[in-house]
Order: sequence, then C-alpha cells, then structure tokens
Amino acid sequence: MAKQVDISSTPIGHEPEPSRAWAADLSSPSLAEQLWGACWQEGFPLTLSTGVSARRADYLLVRDFLAKHFNEIFFVNPDALPKFKSSRSAARDLFYQQVSDHFAFYSGDELVGVLTGNAVDWSTYYVRTIALLPQAQGRGIQREVFQHLVSLLAPAGVERIEIEVLPGNVKQMRALGKMHFQVIGTKLSERWGALVQLAKFLSPESERAFADQYCLGLSQSNINQRGERRNI
Ligand SMILES: CC(C)(COP(=O)(O)OP(=O)(O)OC[C@H]1O[C@@H](n2cnc3c(N)ncnc32)[C@H](O)[C@@H]1OP(=O)(O)O)[C@@H](O)C(=O)NCCC(=O)NCCS
Repeated sequence: MAKQVDISSTPIGHEPEPSRAWAADLSSPSLAEQLWGACWQEGFPLTLSTGVSARRADYLLVRDFLAKHFNEIFFVNPDALPKFKSSRSAARDLFYQQVSDHFAFYSGDELVGVLTGNAVDWSTYYVRTIALLPQAQGRGIQREVFQHLVSLLAPAGVERIEIEVLPGNVKQMRALGKMHFQVIGTKLSERWGALVQLAKFLSPESERAFADQYCLGLSQSNINQRGERRNI
C-alpha cells in the first residue's frame, strides 16, 4: 500500500456538510474581489465543454479534498518531501478563508478537482493550487478554466497570472507552455523543494516588455504572428 503523505497542514477529518459542498461563503469578499470587482460572481458557476461544472467553493471543502486525495493526484514520493512542515496557524486559516479564492470542479455530483488562488498585488493573480483526480485529468479542465480566468481578470486590469510547478511535473510544464506561460524564475522552498515559477502575461505590453528584456524579443505571440505555430 502506498505510504500516506503526512500533509499535517491540511489534516483529514473535517468532513464538510453536504450543503457546504455547493455553497461558497460569499460573506467576506476575497482580496481579488476587493481589488478587481465582482468578477467571480459574474464568472461562476461555469459549465465546461465536457459538462464539468466549475463552482466557487469554500476553503474547508478544498482543504479536505486535498488532504484526502493528495497521494493519488500528485504521485510524489513521500520520502522525498522536505521534512519541514509549517504548523497550522490561525493566520494561515484566515489567509485561506479571507484572502484566497477557491473553486471546485464537479462531474455530475462528484467533486473531481479544486483550484485555489489569490491576488498577490494590484496586477498579479497567483494560482496556488490546481489539482484534479486522475480520471478528470487530460480532459481540458485546466485549459478551459484558465481561459475563463483570463477572460475575467484581463478586463479588470490584471497583467499576469503566476503559478509555481515542480520541475519534474512535465505534464503541467507542457500544459502551461501551450497556454503561453513563460518561465520567470526558480525558487527553493523549505516546504516544497525546487519550484519553477511561470507567468502568463495578460496584456500585450507586459508580454512584449518581458520578451524584449529577457527573451531577445521572442514570445509566443510573436511566433504566432509569424504563423510558425498554431495559436492555442
Ligand atoms: C496538471 C493538471 C492541473 C492539468 O490539468 P488538465 O485539465 O489535466 O489539463 P488539460 O486537459 O487542460 O491538458 C492540457 C495539456 O496538458 C497536457 N496533458 C494533459 N494530460 C496529459 C497526459 N496524461 N500526459 C501528458 N500530457 C498531458 C497536454 O499538453 C495537454 O494539451 P493537449 O490537450 O493539447 O494535448 C492536472 O492534470 C492535474 O491535476 N495534475 C495533478 C496535479 C498537478 O500536477 N497540479 C499542478 C500543480 S502546479
């Protein structure tokens, strides 16, 4: 039997009440909502082309889903995880409850995945977690949801969506590359080891500035304009 990863920061045991699974706590707007208006209320629920429904969710639902399915979703080697574990704190819960946005993906009534993100500053949105059950992977959920996020955030003035990925997560690196995410850095973390940082630039000006400063002018948009690659 696979060794269970101890993600003590997301303990199992708090079973969400059924009604909570469908209802987001909208009483306190997240930081993104405060900064960029009511884009979440207008944008969700969203029905994807496969029939999967993307809904706003509350933190406890996402936390419990990740605690329950972490091993089968991430396939990491528990022995290779950094030994350091940050302790659960009231500040952490408050951050997730009041600053972050949580979304849940349903295939019929079955919860098949979650996404958590938050505003980093006035023009940057950070996708902190996206995790789909194996049977829900490879069906375009992430691509459609990210396209939707772009369509909501770009008009609100957000200039970039950032995400961090384990360098060995080839599937995700490839998926993000196809969506024109660019590598903007690497990071060493006591919690997760090495991470590649990527950004998708939402304004042509931001993308051009990055391409000119760091990529000799080379960007996906430029390549697509020259017709050498398919626009995705
Ligand atoms: C990574 C993940 C979020 C991607 O979401 P997804 O909905 O499965 O991705 P999509 O179906 O939108 O696929 C987009 C691209 O991903 C790649 N991809 C998807 N499934 C793949 C597979 N089984 N093998 C290789 N590449 C795959 C492909 O490049 C695909 O593009 P294509 O449709 O043109 O072939 C999801 O697979 C997942 O939850 N994985 C486990 C957890 C994880 O790694 N989270 C990300 C942490 S940053």
